[in-house]
Amino acid sequence: MEIRVCIGSSCHLRGSYDIINLMKSGIEKNNLEDKVNLAAAFCLGKCGDGVSIKIDEQVISGVTAENFNEVFDTYVLSAV
Ligand code: FES
Repeated sequence: MEIRVCIGSSCHLRGSYDIINLMKSGIEKNNLEDKVNLAAAFCLGKCGDGVSIKIDEQVISGVTAENFNEVFDTYVLSAV
């Protein structure tokens, strides 16, 4: 699974850095290092509703530290 977290300027201002860290710890906690490839991406085209992330071909926007666990369960844990 490929996960890209947008670090374009708009998403950066909305907290991409926190999302990358949450993503890293979620991957480690669930021992998904071999299954998930995490990287940063530049603008994913949904700047008005950041933070945007891309999981394989799907773009998910509006990711925040508050809803992160829900996003992680729905799009990562249930799909690996
Ligand atoms: S800056 Fe993240 S979608 Fe544009």
